[in-house]
Amino acid sequence: MSKKIFSGVQPSGNLHLGNYIGAIKNFVDLQNQEGNQCIYCVVDLHAITLRQDPKVLKNNIRETTATFLASGIDPKKSIIFNQSLVRAHAEGSWILGCIARTGWLNRMTQFKEKAGKDKEKASVGLYIYPILMTADILLYDATHVPVGEDQKQHLELSRDIAQKFNSDFNVANFLRVPEPLIQKNFSRIMSLKDGTKKMSKSDPSDLSRINLTDTNDQILNKIKKAKTDGNLMPSEKIELKKRPEVENLLSIYSSLKNQNIEKSIDEFSGKNFSDFKDNLAETVVDKISPISKEIINLLKNEDYIDKILEEGAEKADAQATNKINEIKKIIGF
Ligand code: TYM
Repeated sequence: MSKKIFSGVQPSGNLHLGNYIGAIKNFVDLQNQEGNQCIYCVVDLHAITLRQDPKVLKNNIRETTATFLASGIDPKKSIIFNQSLVRAHAEGSWILGCIARTGWLNRMTQFKEKAGKDKEKASVGLYIYPILMTADILLYDATHVPVGEDQKQHLELSRDIAQKFNSDFNVANFLRVPEPLIQKNFSRIMSLKDGTKKMSKSDPSDLSRINLTDTNDQILNKIKKAKTDGNLMPSEKIELKKRPEVENLLSIYSSLKNQNIEKSIDEFSGKNFSDFKDNLAETVVDKISPISKEIINLLKNEDYIDKILEEGAEKADAQATNKINEIKKIIGF
């Protein structure tokens, strides 16, 4: 079945291996499957839910776009654009915010994590952010949304909002209820320093993540310093339950090799950790180094990147404006 794919990545700097394995790598695979229509968005409206320096934000929008391109997203096959260029996202977000219930938003765990102890000081935008994400998806009638595990709850909210809109206005199937596409394995890449914590751009330790712009030496150093235990490599999958750091490194290796974790366990069963780390480092460098070189190369030509975003926005705008106009008609404007 052909799919209409929508997904987004925030331009908040430090895109890392978790973003690549959990999301961007799949964006490319989906784009290359016959019949799929893909829209990939640099979600700059989402990024300002936390304070951003305007100059840095502008660079990060270009860098995220360059990362899409360098990873293999092709503007001839997929629509690539930044969210703030298409007004219907903000408009749709307001309207859908009147459909969503505060009780639903209060359950969002990512808000609780990001707001931290002092919720009163978090921006209102951070609180209503999943509604903007819902607008992103529903404006394009997306059938499938590829994301990492951390976005699952937001997608469930999108489904609830779509269903409530359809039922409130008695327009069955008007807003398409999207399906999450979350990989069974590798949908949650963990910190290199703590196998129980997600790899994240906001972790204060740069050693906790491999950034897509890291040099080969940085990658080698980070893998060398990645937390492990004193035991040999496991021979059974069940052993991984008690060894989260080992499971994470094996997941990274398996995903980049496009093989299941069982095969990787067999490959290194009973070997010393250093053997595995050498192979892992080589695999990560092989995959990331061409991407990081291409990002640097693309960023030399800002006009080219801006043109891709503008052309993508024009195509996205045509679809989103159409949908928002239909929505407005339904609600009586
Ligand atoms: P963002 O920018 O935080 O992350 C982008 C994508 O990377 C995935 N990801 C991970 N996957 C595996 N392991 C990790 N450690 C890891 N860290 C991040 C995320 O799950 C995500 O898929 N709200 C979204 C962006 C968004 C969006 C949308 C996504 C806005 N509108 C509409 C889909 C559809 C976000 O902040 O992702």
